Amino acid sequence: MLDQFGRNINYFRISVTDQCNLRCIYCMPDKGIDFLKEEKLLSFDEIYKVVKIVASLGISKVRITGGEPLTRKDIPKLIHHIKTLPQIEEVCLTTNGIFLERYIDELIKAGLDGVNISLDTLKDERYKEMTRGGSLEQVIRGIHLSLERGIKRVKLNTVMIKGENDDEIMDFVELVEKNPIDVRFIELMPIGEGKAFQAVSNDEVQERILKERDLIAYRVENRRLGPASYFKTPHSKGRIGFISPMSHMFCRKCNRMRLTSEGFLRQCLHWKDGIHLRKMIRDGMEDKELKKMIEKGIYNKPNKHGFKQNCIDEDSKRMFQIGG
Ligand code: 5AD
Ligand code: SF4
Repeated sequence: MLDQFGRNINYFRISVTDQCNLRCIYCMPDKGIDFLKEEKLLSFDEIYKVVKIVASLGISKVRITGGEPLTRKDIPKLIHHIKTLPQIEEVCLTTNGIFLERYIDELIKAGLDGVNISLDTLKDERYKEMTRGGSLEQVIRGIHLSLERGIKRVKLNTVMIKGENDDEIMDFVELVEKNPIDVRFIELMPIGEGKAFQAVSNDEVQERILKERDLIAYRVENRRLGPASYFKTPHSKGRIGFISPMSHMFCRKCNRMRLTSEGFLRQCLHWKDGIHLRKMIRDGMEDKELKKMIEKGIYNKPNKHGFKQNCIDEDSKRMFQIGG
């Protein structure tokens, strides 16, 4: 359906947990996080109820995120269930990749269409440091298995941070040249732990690539590919994408709504308001009423985020709580 600014809202991101098996330095503090109590998490039945309604309102693509979604039990079941809805054309997963090798077969059987893997470095030791303990080898095995088993779209999400990993830009480019994988450079946003680090703008990433390679703009045939602009190098198998929430605000084209793990419908990543669907569902609101609330929520999606203005609607929640 269209929102008040005429944007076609067809993409729904569901965070299924705020927990994670890693502690990436710019995302989560090492200790002292108040994770949600189990009873505050939306159950799979409650999630399904919401998805059924948004599907009837024009959502055709769903992404499962976290925290780390694969820390929650039975994610393949949830995916399978969502895939049975006739309006849903695509269900994808965003993961740090550690548990992929364990679940890939079940995920494929459930009908998973694509997987985005968060990976900021290709160096073992550095991975261990940046994630506070993760094993890069496991992630790489997960990536290869996903490709081998025929996942249609495998994309890496890479956040470049000054002085931490920005010497690896060309290593990621080379990876894309050799493998049918997309790498998307995502600008670090000043949320939570991210505020303590220095972002590298995508203009800079692009400039640095251009010193060594030609970049050929790749026109994306599928509207739903979202806010990234894509390029290839002359012989690359995969594509290089740039997602630039800070330097090139893409809110005008934003097509998404979010459901947080505690059951808030969020119209914008960086907007405090949300609709407390969990409460409404548990108070026994009927589906017809719920649908009205959700429809209103979609219609009222704000026109842009306020990272730069430090606006009053800025929210204190972190990426892993809202859904990265
Ligand atoms: N800015 C940009 N991306 C972030 N992520 C976590 N914190 C930030 C931030 N401040 C991303 C991770 C991962 C997903 C869970 O969210 O890199 O891809
Ligand atoms: Fe976990 Fe992803 Fe945050 Fe890293 S960035 S701590 S993998 S949620």
